[in-house]
This record gives sequence, structure tokens and C-alpha cells, in this order.
Amino acid sequence: MDAFYYKENTLCCEDVKINEIVSETGTPVYIYSKNAILSRFNELKTAFQEVDTTICFSVKSNSNLTICKILANEGSGFDVVSGGELFRALKAGGTPSKIVFAGVGKTDKEIQYALENDIFMFNVESIAELEHINAVAGNMTKTAKVALRINPDIDAKTHAKTTTGKKENKFGIDLIVAETIIEKAKSYKNVNVCGLHVHLGSPIYSVDPYVNALKKITVFIQKCRKTGIDIRYLNIGGGYCISYTGEEVIKPKDYSAQILPFVKEMQCQVITEPGRFIAGNSGILVTSVIYNKQNSHGKKFVICDAAMNDLLRPALYDAFHRIWPVNTNIAMPDIEAPDQCEVKQGMELVDIVGPVCESSDVFAKDRAIPPVNEGNLLAIFSAGAYGFSMSSSYNSRPRPCEILVDKDKYFVIRKRETYEDLIAGEDII
Ligand SMILES: Cc1ncc(COP(=O)(O)O)c(C=O)c1O
Repeated sequence: MDAFYYKENTLCCEDVKINEIVSETGTPVYIYSKNAILSRFNELKTAFQEVDTTICFSVKSNSNLTICKILANEGSGFDVVSGGELFRALKAGGTPSKIVFAGVGKTDKEIQYALENDIFMFNVESIAELEHINAVAGNMTKTAKVALRINPDIDAKTHAKTTTGKKENKFGIDLIVAETIIEKAKSYKNVNVCGLHVHLGSPIYSVDPYVNALKKITVFIQKCRKTGIDIRYLNIGGGYCISYTGEEVIKPKDYSAQILPFVKEMQCQVITEPGRFIAGNSGILVTSVIYNKQNSHGKKFVICDAAMNDLLRPALYDAFHRIWPVNTNIAMPDIEAPDQCEVKQGMELVDIVGPVCESSDVFAKDRAIPPVNEGNLLAIFSAGAYGFSMSSSYNSRPRPCEILVDKDKYFVIRKRETYEDLIAGEDII
């Protein structure tokens, strides 16, 4: 988390103190580092530079227009999963010929919208979808480029709710069905099957699932080519892990070292769809303590003004985020993992919770932090991916604002929602 660091007992982002931002914006507030986003994008680019690679930033991880624009300016393409995400990618200045469209339920309207904008290709997830793409493209007298999203039945050893490449998952096409598609691919007159796609889940903390998937894909590509279907693009999806605990995790170069030999053997152009790796540790969520509360059983709660509607990951996936006061003279432990939480002297064991009326509205359970008082600020780290983009206004809570820090300056890149925003579009009849 190099862009976020403590200096003189206060948390900074690049050259700006978090206190300074909060005094203007209030809380809760998402704060991103431009430098962190760019350096992570470039780290990936370097890791895959030996082969022809298109990096398509996964818009679902952070769909803020400014963030997407920064990446578009750096040469990134986009991975979208809805008409709305495609709209965002285009608004942010994304190059259509670098946009890939995944998702199991693309509607005809979305397919048409994508074809009108001449996107790079569709990642197709079923025969039914392929037939719809063929029909819609036919009506428009266009040919749609497609990659078959293969479900290789491989366990990516991630959370059950974020595993996507096992046979029981709704995603992708298994290899047997994919073979039948390849056999009749040429009969789809308005579709050009020229790629294969695989996305196994997220975050993946080992290269093995990628390698195991690629072993299967290599054999399949050879079969495709024998049938006269020239597979030129290999989309290896996203899922690259980040450290949520401070522990060392594998890096893009570790992935690419093992992935590239397959790619070279298959002589394909690579597409990769990172989201979390670029945005995750490039952002934090800052919240204020509203109350401290203790029950007669000795349980202590820190109730803060951010909640599960602002950052859903802990409630949805039991996800671990480091949380530490913005202003403190106690250093945050280098590593803090769910089972390694130490209550050192001067610290308290608390549950850090939000105000939403759900028992799952808990950011951290039994977490040791320095004591905090009403009005103190807490930073929730690693919140740049699947943070704001998953937020909602549940409990009629206006969503937070988003700030981008660029060296010693910061910018509001999304305004805080107002009560009026909450009811915009509603009519009383
Ligand atoms: C098809 C696809 N590609 C890419 C991603 C991005 O994954 P990550 O943010 O872990 O890189 C996802 C995430 O769900 C996905 O579904």
C-alpha cells in the first residue's frame, strides 16, 4: 500500500494528508491514488510485454469515469459485462476496438449496442447467446467477433461466491459443449469464432489454476485449428490477487512467467482482464466514528458512519480489510490477518460496524485497534476495487463521494449523493 502511508502519526495519500481531504468532503469518502493505479497497470503491462497483449481493465471493479479515463489514456482497453458498463467505458474515452463484453445474460439490446459501437469481441457464455449474437449481427449485416468463454471445471481456491470456473458455476461453456459449437461454428454466418476466454474467479493466490486451465485450453485450441477454426486470441481473464493483510502475495511477473510459455506455444494474442489488481490497493474508504458502545457481556462496538451499503465485501464474502485510525501514534502492524489479530498493550478488541439495520453490517469482528473516540477517523484499506462499484443506497443512505489524489492535489471525481438524489426518478402517483 505504498501510496497510502503514515507520516508524523497521520495517514497520507501520495502528498496529501487524509485529514485535509476529509475536512473538506466529510465522511464516508473513497480516496484513490492516481499514481498507484498507473503503476499497477504498468506493472502488468511489463509482466506481459513479451507477447502482443491487450489489457482490458475490468470496469466492474471500479467504474468511476475518471479512473477509467486515466486507464484509457494509458492505453488500457475495458472488460464490460453490461450495456451500462459499455456506456461508461465509451464515455471515459475507451477505444471500442479494445472493449470485450462478457456476462451470461447479454440481451439483444445490449448485443446491438455493442455491435453499433464496433467493440473488439464478445465473450460468449452459451449456445443460446451465440445464436442471439448471430441473429442480431445478421440483422445489422455485421460480423461479430467472439471468444468462447470456456468453463474448464477448475477450482481457483477462492471464496465460494467468487469462484467462476467450476462445473457447477453458471459461467462459461464446458469443453464438450464447446466442441459441438466449434464443429458448427462456420454455419453461424454473422459470427467469427476467433478467441477463447477463461476467467476462473477472484482473487486467485496461486498460478496453478491458470496453468491447469491453460493445459486444457491448449489441447482444445489444437482441436479448433484442425477443424479450420483459427483461434487467434486467448483471453486469460482477471483474478490476480492483491494483499489484503500486508502479507506478500504473488506478483504479475509470477503469473506471466508461467502463463507466457502456453501463449507462445499457441501463438495467440493475449487479452487480460484485471480489475482488483489495478484498483484494489489503490483506494481506501475513510469513515468517522459515530459512537462507542459496550454491552453487559463486555462486547465493544465501534459504530462508524460507513456501512455495508458503502462497502459490501465483508458482508457479502466475509472479506478481510485492514482498518486503522487515520490519526494515531500506534503503528499499524505490518501484517494483520484474520487469525493473527494481536491485542497489544494500549489496544482494544472491538467489532467495527456500520449503522445499517442488518447484523451482517460488520466491517471487522474482534479486531484489535487503538482506542478511538467519537469523531475519530478510521481508514478501511484495500477498498479501491469492488468498493464503490458495489455500493447501494440501502436504508436510504446517500452514497459516499469519491476523491482522486494526484501528487499534492486532490479532486472530487464523484459528488456525495444527496437526499434528493435518493428519490430522483421516483414519481408519487
Ligand atoms: C469475466 C471477468 N473478467 C475479469 C474480472 C476481474 O477480476 P479481478 O478484479 O479479480 O481481476 C471478473 C471479475 O469478476 C470477471 O468476471
